[in-house]
Amino acid sequence: MIFQSWQQNSAKKSYLCPSLKKFMPPSSHIISATLQRWFAENKRDLPWRETQNPYLIWISEIILQQTRVAQGYDYYLRFVARFPDVKTLAEADEGDVLRLWQGLGYYSRARNLHVAAKQIVGDFDGRFPENFPDVLRLKGVGRYTAAAICSFAFGTPVAVVDGNVYRVLARLFGEETPIDSGEGQKRFEALAAAILDRRHPSAHNQAIMEFGALQCTPLAPDCAACVLHAHCRAAADGTVALLPVKAKKTKISERFFTYLVITCGEQIFIRRRTERDIWRGLYDFPLIETPALLTKEEIVENEAVKEILSGVKNAVFRNFSKVYKHVLTHRRLFAQFVAVEISDISQHLEQQFIKTEKSALADYPLPRLIERYLISD
Ligand code: ADE
Ligand code: SF4
Repeated sequence: MIFQSWQQNSAKKSYLCPSLKKFMPPSSHIISATLQRWFAENKRDLPWRETQNPYLIWISEIILQQTRVAQGYDYYLRFVARFPDVKTLAEADEGDVLRLWQGLGYYSRARNLHVAAKQIVGDFDGRFPENFPDVLRLKGVGRYTAAAICSFAFGTPVAVVDGNVYRVLARLFGEETPIDSGEGQKRFEALAAAILDRRHPSAHNQAIMEFGALQCTPLAPDCAACVLHAHCRAAADGTVALLPVKAKKTKISERFFTYLVITCGEQIFIRRRTERDIWRGLYDFPLIETPALLTKEEIVENEAVKEILSGVKNAVFRNFSKVYKHVLTHRRLFAQFVAVEISDISQHLEQQFIKTEKSALADYPLPRLIERYLISD
């Protein structure tokens, strides 16, 4: 009965249930109860589910933000083994933190973890803050992560809204507002809050996320076998594949890199990436970025290449690598590596770059692309 009135309303794009005079999707308790029952039977056993320690939950959530569980699992175990609590992390060297993160990508996550750990030590006497606004103030912690930490660790009744949750909600309620619009964010936050089981926020939130990850998957979910099939608007309407709606198609941009791998005997030149760009804080080689890939002839004649090598009397272009295609989330990189052997080191080179031993390269946190070149895959 209530469900019918809800359906009529949502067809008119109104989210007020007239009989209740407030925002209330139908059968919200049934949906949550069903999700929690499904979760009890189907959840994956994951180490961060065994704990209510906010530090451990925080680390796991940051790792899992842009990383699949299968990939994040080992990183999580290594990270918390090396930095078992806030204090150890706060006192760590940034390079050590980044090294443990190497290969996971989105390195600002690691830098922010480190900053936030210091924040907790400085502002909260080393004790993890326990209320939502304080947790939200930690560097790198947004609404989603704060909600996850507070509900899982402290039982705070606040709903999580992540990519999985957007998808489940969009389909269950046939919500067509784009998830990447301000209006959409409001609607999805409201829907999530409305079906939250306020007495069991931890179980509820974990259940809906896991349900999105395992059952209500982006491509071809098995709706016939779904415990929420009878409550699902998109399944009834045949719109499962169309939801959720995204306003902007993320544009994949292409970038073209030519790296100079300059060596002088056993010495090699690298630099720390400090720009506001990919891989900040990691190390790579002297780089020339161009609007298209340079040919060998163009490399030798390139002004930026000449500038880098200015003052070097003997530079020999030894080797031009294949083109490495490297895919990041919103970027496709095309990178080539040019081995340049020099017999005299210019002051200019030493001022611009870090001179190190080839054998010491492994001590620096390197982007995966650079590692691929070094192991020449
Ligand atoms: N993705 C984000 N947070 C997660 C969690 N706590 N468990 C499994 N997958 C997740
Ligand atoms: Fe998702 Fe299909 Fe279940 Fe609806 S019926 S919640 S679309 S899996």
